[in-house]
Amino acid sequence: MTDLDAVVHGASELVVGPDGSGRALETVEDGAVAVVDGTVAAVGPTEDVTREYPPGNARRAVDAGGRAVLPGFVDPHTHGLFAGDRSDEFAAKLRGKSYQDILAEGGGILRTVRAVRDADDETLLSNLLGHLDTMLAHGTTTVEVKSGYGLDTETELQMLRVIDRADDRHPVDVVPTFMGAHAVPEGRDADDYTDEVVEEQIPAVESQGVADFCDVFCEEGVFSVAQSRRVLEAGAEAGLTPKVHAEELAHIGGTQLAAEMGATSADHLLYATEEDIDALVEASVTPVLLPGTAFGLGADYADAGAFLESGAPVAVATDFNPNCHSHSMGFAMALSCVEMRMTPAEALVAGTRNAALALDREDGSGTLREGAPADLLVLDAPTHVHVPYQYGTNVVDTVLADGAVVCEDGRTTYE
Ligand code: NIG
Ligand code: FE
Repeated sequence: MTDLDAVVHGASELVVGPDGSGRALETVEDGAVAVVDGTVAAVGPTEDVTREYPPGNARRAVDAGGRAVLPGFVDPHTHGLFAGDRSDEFAAKLRGKSYQDILAEGGGILRTVRAVRDADDETLLSNLLGHLDTMLAHGTTTVEVKSGYGLDTETELQMLRVIDRADDRHPVDVVPTFMGAHAVPEGRDADDYTDEVVEEQIPAVESQGVADFCDVFCEEGVFSVAQSRRVLEAGAEAGLTPKVHAEELAHIGGTQLAAEMGATSADHLLYATEEDIDALVEASVTPVLLPGTAFGLGADYADAGAFLESGAPVAVATDFNPNCHSHSMGFAMALSCVEMRMTPAEALVAGTRNAALALDREDGSGTLREGAPADLLVLDAPTHVHVPYQYGTNVVDTVLADGAVVCEDGRTTYE
């Protein structure tokens, strides 16, 4: 007998993944999924799947009972490991202070850097595990987490080790990104700090062996295109795949750099131009849009329609960080629909399969196709449309990670 981990059956709507157009969904009515060895072994109509894989033979049978079943959400851009509290900056921004003003006064990222340098390993780990629990309860089964609140070799390495420990401990699959070039530390010059990132931090990150990606904040007043290029080239030589924070607050050319470097993703893109979009498509760089950041800053949103029209596999992420304190991919998808005029299907593809592409996961992650990791959600609602439609409400009821039930009734249940 096969080792049948789970059978989830009776889904009113089972979302398999994007259809051939990439902008609509392949769904099954009264659908089921069977899981063997943590991966999807069969997906289709309940009658067919349960004939081959009887729920009674499974370690866990889940009757979706007329509710929707979706691939787990993939959140491809967060700064989810931090310490301290910046809620007062939220209030200051509402009174008209800009993100750049706060940073220039030593607040923002630099304030979180001080809090992280003062925190010990156990505090950092418990902060991250707490955030992962909340993300999981909101349906996220894979999340990227960046370093970048250390800004010195020792603390950057410490952050990556904590991210690695959290990945070992927690059912959410955590993808580590090195981002020593997240800000210029207080009292330092950008060129001189770039030297440190390239000559000291990246070799140390390579020998510690935790990070998959190297990201850089290519932004006016932070790292120039030339400095960002140096960081990404050194990272690539150390085996770290490039990612770029590009055109978030101004247009300086980070998107073209992402294309030139063959980055996995270019993120934010509020000020990306038509030429930038063409360059991304040409170089197969996945655009990651972060509507929660624009929402929190009261800023404009990226032009999702232009990216979709160009055929780019638009991804969406929360950008969860002390400046954008939302764990919820459902909320990011709601903003994608309401503020960026994406359809609920486009938003779901953006937060599942395309988000997996933004993390170089090409193993079916973000879909429920045969062979994909069995990360899936049972909603407390009949269709995927309810994810953005019920904005502000968590419609995720049950979560399976690698075929094991890890969250029920909106509460985490893993050991
Ligand atoms: O993606 N842009 C740089 N990094 C974050 C903000 C981090 C912070 O403010 O702590 C972002 O928006
Ligand atoms: Fe970011």
